[in-house]
Amino acid sequence: MTSIIKTIKMRRSCRTYEFKPIEQEKRSAWEVFLTANTTGPFGSQVRFILSDLQQIKPEEAKVPGTYGVIQGAQFFIIGAVKKSEMAMEDFGYAMERNVLYATESGLGTCWLGGTFKRTGFARLIDLQEDELLPAVTPVGYPKQKKSLTDRIFRYMASSDKRKPWEQIFFLNNLETPLSGNQTGDFGQVLECVRIGPSASNRQPWRIIKDEDSRNFHFYLQRTPGYGNLIGGISLQNIDMGIAMCHFELSAREMGLSGQWVRQIFPEPKAAPGGMEYIVSWVGA
Ligand SMILES: Cc1cc2nc3c(=O)[nH]c(=O)nc-3n(C[C@H](O)[C@H](O)[C@H](O)COP(=O)(O)O)c2cc1C
Repeated sequence: MTSIIKTIKMRRSCRTYEFKPIEQEKRSAWEVFLTANTTGPFGSQVRFILSDLQQIKPEEAKVPGTYGVIQGAQFFIIGAVKKSEMAMEDFGYAMERNVLYATESGLGTCWLGGTFKRTGFARLIDLQEDELLPAVTPVGYPKQKKSLTDRIFRYMASSDKRKPWEQIFFLNNLETPLSGNQTGDFGQVLECVRIGPSASNRQPWRIIKDEDSRNFHFYLQRTPGYGNLIGGISLQNIDMGIAMCHFELSAREMGLSGQWVRQIFPEPKAAPGGMEYIVSWVGA
């Protein structure tokens, strides 16, 4: 098995695919993985299917339902989550596990939360009334030569750039950026959060570390007017779930144990600067 930290570093969104089916053996392994991926850290129920959009012909480069953003993909992972308070975070966490599993097996993915039509995908997964379908991802072999749309997307979202450490990681309060030598063993773990995907690459996660413990408090700096879709889908809460996934998997790989605790009352730090408290990692 490849290192999860290496996998997180390798992942990039891919919007242009080879028209090459995924081998049956890999598909069977997928079924096993998806069937076992049933819940997120807050306990919301999730379910995923690997769907073969057979109607796409090789010559038909643009995949229906994705507004032409995705080209050449034949397979999609479609996900649903039961409506609940932390459904978006749980979905983000669980779907990102699928994304990393794909990356590890040499397959490309691209989170789609905005540029896809939900109706067709909802039918394929037989979406229930008490469920939401927050996002899907194509999965397939990446094409070397990227489509123009792919390149424009990456350019528009500055996809190869990330906010510098001092704008997203802090010590005790928002006035004190966290410097490299204050992170202890967690430098690599925080870097795995920083390079993660987020909707339109907005990177809404902010993390405050306690000075005298291994506790990290996760806040959401919401982009005004962005990412809240009809029916309770919030792309930026999904981003938080992805950040939790990267944090936890890389921490565990480094042997850093801990657990998620949502300290609703009192909050660990009264939500500074208009941010929303999400969760804390309480290090052992
Ligand atoms: C929740 C979420 C929703 C996204 N929705 C879309 C989308 O609708 N269309 C798209 O082309 N990319 C979408 N993306 C991909 C981001 O634009 C991408 O992750 C970001 O620009 C960083 O690039 P990278 O993934 O290559 O590192 C989404 C990503 C996330 C996490």
